[in-house]
Amino acid sequence: MPNSVIIGSQWGDEGKAKIIDYLTEHSDCIIRFQGGANAGHTVVVDNHSFIFHMVPSGIMYPSKICIIGNGVVFDPEQFLTEVDELEERGISITDRLYISDIAHMVLPYHKAIDIAREEHRDDIRIGTTGRGIGPAYADKANRIGLRTGDLFDWEMFKEKLTAAYTQKKYIIEHVYHASLDVSLEEIIDSYQLMRERIVPHIRNTAHYIFNCYKQGKRLLFEGAQGTMLDIDHGTYPYVTSSNTIAGSVCHGAGVGPSVIDHVIGIVKTYTTRVGNGPFPTELDNETGEKLRTEGGEFGATTGRPRRCGWFDSVVLRKAIQVNGFTRMALTKLDVLNTFKEINICTHYELEGKKIDYLPTTAAELEKVVPVYETHQGWNCDITECRQFSKLPENARNYLKRIQELCYDVPILLVSVGPERSQTIEVEPL
Ligand code: GDP
Ligand code: IMO
Ligand code: MG
Repeated sequence: MPNSVIIGSQWGDEGKAKIIDYLTEHSDCIIRFQGGANAGHTVVVDNHSFIFHMVPSGIMYPSKICIIGNGVVFDPEQFLTEVDELEERGISITDRLYISDIAHMVLPYHKAIDIAREEHRDDIRIGTTGRGIGPAYADKANRIGLRTGDLFDWEMFKEKLTAAYTQKKYIIEHVYHASLDVSLEEIIDSYQLMRERIVPHIRNTAHYIFNCYKQGKRLLFEGAQGTMLDIDHGTYPYVTSSNTIAGSVCHGAGVGPSVIDHVIGIVKTYTTRVGNGPFPTELDNETGEKLRTEGGEFGATTGRPRRCGWFDSVVLRKAIQVNGFTRMALTKLDVLNTFKEINICTHYELEGKKIDYLPTTAAELEKVVPVYETHQGWNCDITECRQFSKLPENARNYLKRIQELCYDVPILLVSVGPERSQTIEVEPL
């Protein structure tokens, strides 16, 4: 398989992990390049499901190399929890799970600040996952972060940690009027233990990836979150703190753009969002509730109910523009099995004027009115279908219309269930 990037095209939870796992069979290295444990990536194989927050979703295949790139904010506790779970289930990670030595770490005070900041603000609450993502990326940009490579020199690490802890404790107590309920000694003790297990995985991953590339190994880059949560191109300030778009692969994994052959957009056949912020096609009614129930739309990281709505082609066109999708994988089509009628948003109206592009500010996006066209549902179970031509005509027409509204980007796969096997191949890479 050519070197490919997997990107969420909406507000996250499009089913990226299911597609990563599916494509891992034809890949050699699976690389996360941004985000952190805010991601919740679900893989279902033979009725067993696994939710990854830190470990790349390709890990289920025993011989594949998985890499946590430098663009990720690395959460050591979450990482080790997942490693333990994998080992309990008999999946070995020895000599095939690497962490960049220049990835910044998420420390307990980042999580405390994340939560305290949300509680403290009365103007804008983002509805973050509380995983410390924003504060960790802020420290990186401020050049005061701790990186995994700092774990090599324990005395130096303790010095840097002590300085950072003192400053953060002050901010938590005096700016946010909250408390940091973990002591410096407790953090040092837990890191001393975790360090022994983490250090053997730390590598110069950019160098490693380049050698893989030169040897002709097939690279699969695993995006987290979705395009609308990108810190530049998303619905700012209701976004995450990293660039989630395909271009982020280059700095987040340490590769040049010429390494990338394909950019695959993961597209849910309806729309969901967790957390706050504008969502033009949201259905705050029984239909939205039905989408949530049929789709099991509850956050894989926080368990929060996901907001649900119809497919929004305006969002998708934006995603295609900023990511350059060369293929789309359309997911969760089976969730629409029992809907008599299904709407597609073709464009918006903003103050009485038709617009077919996404406004750049959240304030304007709050004001748009989605314009729909209605499609007839197929009213039958498609979860056993494995060929595009065998899908009901109304389902095929629905997908073709989505494609038409999305600059005719070719469809790679259609997903009709959470299991690896519930996948229809359409146009190969
Ligand atoms: P990700 O963050 O993009 O990897 O997606 P999540 O794992 O957060 O959420 C997707 C959810 O939908 C998970 O529970 C998946 O198991 C499930 N899923 C993925 N593809 C399909 C599909 O085609 N049909 C159904 N019914 N569920 C799916
Ligand atoms: P995956 O990879 C859906 C959302 C949060 C919040 C905003 C900022 O599973 O698709 P953060 O904790 O990142 O500072 O929160 O971003 N968010 C996600 N929503 N899927 C995700 O990841 C998300 N990661 C963050 O709900 O609105
Ligand atoms: Mg998710």
